[in-house]
Amino acid sequence: MKPALPCLLTSVLSRCVLNGLQHLLGFASLLPRHSPQIPAATVSTTPAVQIPAPHTIDGGVRRQIAGVGVAELAREHGTPLYVYDAETIRRRCRDLTQPRAGAAWDTVRFAQKACSNIAVLDLIRREGVVVDAVSTGEIHRALAAGYDPHAARSTTADGLPPAHAIVYTADIFDRESLDEVARLGIHVNCGSADMLEQLAARVPGAEVTLRVNPGFGHGHSQKTNTGGEGSKHGIWHADIPDVMQRAEGAGIAVTGLHMHIGSGTDLAHLAEVAGTLETVAREIGRTLTTISAGGGLPIPYRPGEVHADLGGYVQLWNMTRRRLEEAFGHRIRLEIEPGRYLTAESGYLVTEVRAVKRQGSRKYVLVDAGFNTLARPVLYGAYHPMSLCPADPGPTAGALREEVAVGGPLCESGDIFTQTDGGFVATRDLPAAAVGDLLVIEIAGAYGFVMASNYNSKPLPAEVLIDGGKARLVRARQTPADLLRGETV
Ligand SMILES: Cc1ncc(COP(=O)(O)O)c(C=O)c1O
Repeated sequence: MKPALPCLLTSVLSRCVLNGLQHLLGFASLLPRHSPQIPAATVSTTPAVQIPAPHTIDGGVRRQIAGVGVAELAREHGTPLYVYDAETIRRRCRDLTQPRAGAAWDTVRFAQKACSNIAVLDLIRREGVVVDAVSTGEIHRALAAGYDPHAARSTTADGLPPAHAIVYTADIFDRESLDEVARLGIHVNCGSADMLEQLAARVPGAEVTLRVNPGFGHGHSQKTNTGGEGSKHGIWHADIPDVMQRAEGAGIAVTGLHMHIGSGTDLAHLAEVAGTLETVAREIGRTLTTISAGGGLPIPYRPGEVHADLGGYVQLWNMTRRRLEEAFGHRIRLEIEPGRYLTAESGYLVTEVRAVKRQGSRKYVLVDAGFNTLARPVLYGAYHPMSLCPADPGPTAGALREEVAVGGPLCESGDIFTQTDGGFVATRDLPAAAVGDLLVIEIAGAYGFVMASNYNSKPLPAEVLIDGGKARLVRARQTPADLLRGETV
């Protein structure tokens, strides 16, 4: 068990010291005017939460995924193959939909950009989780998975405003997305003032959420930091009075406030957002009926990492919500918008070893998936656990170990799964692999398939969902004809 809230408090305090330094350096405008407050009572009474990790194997032999043989999956569906375990997705949804430490999110909204296969969306919808869409394509996916944009129209029994089943979140409208949100009456989370006026011209009297950039951000990589001056995302916090005037001029009502500071950040940084959001909420005033903490919840990828204390986190946001309810005299819906948290641990990328070779002193295992299949290592130097399913079914297979670099088939030197940030090739201690063995890249269920591409004219892989010990194909592998569709000579 880890004492998570004291840790959270220490980190928030150290961030406050940092903020103090920024202030001295003259960056006062970047800081929240109300710094986040975590009352001592909350800190001392919240139990640490240990959420059971899924069955990740890092550096060992794996024969099965969620009760189905890895070799059988590869035989049936080919490789590279994305495999999702439905039960892990359900478990992660319930971590957030069920109350923790006496507090609960009213709405869990899945940032489907993390994993948008419609079978996964359908599963998540059945868990009572609503959805975020960042494009027309994602709106159509949500509809195909059974989300009804008009499902909840009335206030709930306990006085909460209805939750929108689908919210479109972006910094711009392309022409197609503006047409679709107007046609379908989808609620919009605006990341720029221009969006307000463009929406008003199409949907007079619309209600909107504002995505606000709080002036700071944090992600697992600088590329996933979505706050501060280095980020294009959201409406700058100091511009709110101006934007509110523009909203009023356009006849738009601001009913929601949303902040998302980055993907795969940590709870200490996320906790800071609550204070800034509260300040901005008071500037917007009584029209607000919903606040969103955004996404960014971290998950453990590396050995020794554990899940964060979600009880302390929801308590912190619940207190923010309560203070705003008191100030405004009406109920406020509290939302969270995770992506990675709900699906990352459910996903496995099954690949086949196609070559094993030496380059001087370094040994390379080359598989049939590349950064066209899973881009996170090349984009961020991201670490994914790996396991081996040897072709030899004997009990001693995989006993021999080797330090190897793992790469793919692409005509790019960066096509390496074992690399660190900056593109430096690293190695892993893995069971010795031979051609024909299956290498499984684990915790690949978020920002995996959705970032796959046709680079080098490689087809998109198939996706399979395992539920109750049964594997179901939920996306067919692309064919050579798919690759040429729409092209002419
Ligand atoms: C607006 C928004 N919400 C939520 C998320 C989900 O982030 P994560 O997958 O880290 O929870 C993202 C991802 O960057 C995002 O841009």
